[in-house]
Amino acid sequence: MADSTKTATLSFGDTTIELPMYSPSAGPDVIDISKLYAQGGVFTHDPGFTSTSSCESTITFIDGGKGELLHRGYPIDQLAEKSHFLEVCYLLLYGELPTAAQLEDFEFRVTRHTMVHEQMGNFFRGFRRDAHPMAVMVGVVGAMSAFYHDSTDVNDPWQREVAAIRLIAKMPTIAAWAFKYTIGQPMVYPRNDLDYASNFLRMCFAVPAEDYEVDPILARAMDRIFTLHADHEQNASTSTVRLASSSGANPFACIAAGIACLWGPAHGGANQACLEMLREIGTVDRIPEFIARAKDKNDPFRLMGFGHRVYKNFDPRAKVMKKSADEVLELLGVENNPTLQVAKELEAQALADPYFAEKKLFPNVDFYSGIILEAMGFPTSMFTPIFAVSRTVGWVSQWKEMISDPTMKIGRPRQLYTGSTARDYVDVEDR
Ligand code: ACO
Repeated sequence: MADSTKTATLSFGDTTIELPMYSPSAGPDVIDISKLYAQGGVFTHDPGFTSTSSCESTITFIDGGKGELLHRGYPIDQLAEKSHFLEVCYLLLYGELPTAAQLEDFEFRVTRHTMVHEQMGNFFRGFRRDAHPMAVMVGVVGAMSAFYHDSTDVNDPWQREVAAIRLIAKMPTIAAWAFKYTIGQPMVYPRNDLDYASNFLRMCFAVPAEDYEVDPILARAMDRIFTLHADHEQNASTSTVRLASSSGANPFACIAAGIACLWGPAHGGANQACLEMLREIGTVDRIPEFIARAKDKNDPFRLMGFGHRVYKNFDPRAKVMKKSADEVLELLGVENNPTLQVAKELEAQALADPYFAEKKLFPNVDFYSGIILEAMGFPTSMFTPIFAVSRTVGWVSQWKEMISDPTMKIGRPRQLYTGSTARDYVDVEDR
């Protein structure tokens, strides 16, 4: 725990309480209110956790004002440019960049765990063909606890390690199989001679009837998408994983909970929602109509892919993703794709509009990732599963950090109750 160097004084009624304060290595100071109820008999109220730190962590830091995202201190743009996904996984899990030998060993371990238990194929076949791949992933990842009993004891550090590697290794296979199942094609097994991203692309797009060569530029773009989504400190799905695992639940069940949370359109589902919105807009001349709707208080419509809870200047991942989108679209010769034209013009018009500037609304990572994924041939329903593949390492790293923290307690928020006070039951005939 960081040392308490100063205190904050809280006064209400006749009570005055000194609360310890901590100075983090980066970011605003934190007031420790954990003893507030015991000392003052009051709760704090912060729906949506906009001002509340839920844990101590050394993994990821975001400065939303500066548009900075650091993994173990390394800026995301440097990692996206110079590193690759499995190296970033190692960094997030173990805290330091690996040596060449450590990286080789880690890649070997992940690669040897990419196959899933053969009987898990039956789970996929139990779903309707038109099931959303996220629905399939929630079910299948949760079912892993029924297959890998030797890595469900969260109190055993070795089992935690094995569970972490299994989750990172098998998630691309599960996502690819969920995709193959919905399009009625045979599932493609992983190949150990391919890197993580190439293997995923092959499992998604290869068919037994012909050879499939992974384009290295597309593999690099896929790897970059994985890297840019790898972790994002205490976001909704990560907090879900932490809360679920605070009860001691097994890791596969907790990651399934994270996948369920990620699916929502305000979180990981935004990439799918963004592309659907761009298609609905359809042509550049309709953009003003949609911008007007986004600004209208009486219309629930929002520009998907715009805005972020933490980034209030720019999303550093969006910058890298935009560059990657340009490269991929040029490679595939689809620069004139109508969806892309709408996206570019929408971005320009929104950024020039005072409403978006005043509310500090900028394109987020999801604004561009969907465009790349569509150009690669993924249907929109696969966008969020790909996000889940990437974020698994973040969930797992945060989960491991939490379980090994000796101060960890079961998560149990309090509430501001505004319902009825105690009243007597009334028999049905008297109501
Ligand atoms: N379009 C139009 N107006 C918006 C948008 C948007 N995309 N986002 C926020 N606003 C407006 C709100 O109406 C609100 O206006 P008000 O102050 O007049 O009431 C103001 O900006 C602040 O919005 P909040 O919802 O309070 O901000 P919050 O931090 O809670 O929300 C969020 C962040 C959920 C990301 C929001 O910007 C949003 O819904 N964006 C669209 C969905 C999206 O792209 N999500 C992806 C997030 S990134 C990720 O998960 C990887």
